[in-house]
Amino acid sequence: MLIHNPRGWELPERAVTPEALALGRRHLIAGAAALGLASPAARADTPPPLTPDPRFPPGRALTAEKDAETYNNYYEFSDDKDLWEDAKSLPLRPWTIAVDGMVAKPQTFAIDDILNKMPQEERIYRHRCVEAWAMTVPWTGFPLRRLLAAVEPLGSAKYVVFQTAMLPKVMPGLSQPWYPWPYVEGLTIDEAENDLAFVATGLYGKPLPPQNGGPIRLVVPWKYGFKSAKSLVKITLSDKRPAVFWQSIQPREYGFWANVNPNVAHPRWSQASERLLGSNERVPTQIYNGYGAFVASLYADRMTEPLFM
Ligand code: MTE
Repeated sequence: MLIHNPRGWELPERAVTPEALALGRRHLIAGAAALGLASPAARADTPPPLTPDPRFPPGRALTAEKDAETYNNYYEFSDDKDLWEDAKSLPLRPWTIAVDGMVAKPQTFAIDDILNKMPQEERIYRHRCVEAWAMTVPWTGFPLRRLLAAVEPLGSAKYVVFQTAMLPKVMPGLSQPWYPWPYVEGLTIDEAENDLAFVATGLYGKPLPPQNGGPIRLVVPWKYGFKSAKSLVKITLSDKRPAVFWQSIQPREYGFWANVNPNVAHPRWSQASERLLGSNERVPTQIYNGYGAFVASLYADRMTEPLFM
């Protein structure tokens, strides 16, 4: 894995077609550089491309950028998927994110300080919405546990609670009083410290667009997409399990854990397969969205809990 310090969007190479093609291009570029064929300007100014973390091969073609960025769930804006233009009104600067609660060093970070301090990585992750559509996209960002380490969690902290932005002037969905705003999500501390739990600040080599949760969001790819809270403003460590957004609205359909499982149907539809965004192709759903090797052990002692809703 190559880790260095460009900002989230400084990824000169972008491959949105199959992985083999992307890797082929990388080899070509590396070969040209070795032969001294890269232009002097490119050598001086262009940061080396980030290499997607090889521990998490996507196993299928990337979703076209346009599809991932024009079909979104973001209820603060709309319950319609076609909200990307409206979301452009979200001001992404100035932006701060407070990390507080049961920690030794609570801090409020300006987004640009986070981008400067946290070494950026690329992760190509599968994303599985509870509505049975899926995408495969390259996020840029850093492991959540790095941010937690900066505030020094206390031993008594058991949960990490994520709160997302509430800006009524630009978010028309907030005027719908039947939703329990703000959008809150949560993880256990061991889930939050897992290798896969990621904070995204970029997508397809560019700053994370507002409709996908810019400027900063959570990405937990083994869980249904609603756990991956967008546009974070606060992260609080707590010894209490939080009331989370969709569970508060409909506890018979949505739970705290929300781990992907093809064999546990949603009360109103099957979860056995998923539609790949941008096509009509359906593929079988995988348990933990295919990330069981990394996360299944987190749940060994919790089998009596409703882990898959
Ligand atoms: N975060 C906030 N703040 N508001 C939302 O409505 N929707 C969730 C999740 N995070 C949501 C959110 C759901 S249901 C999904 S599937 C994903 O965001 C969608 O992410 P995407 O639009 O980047 O594909």
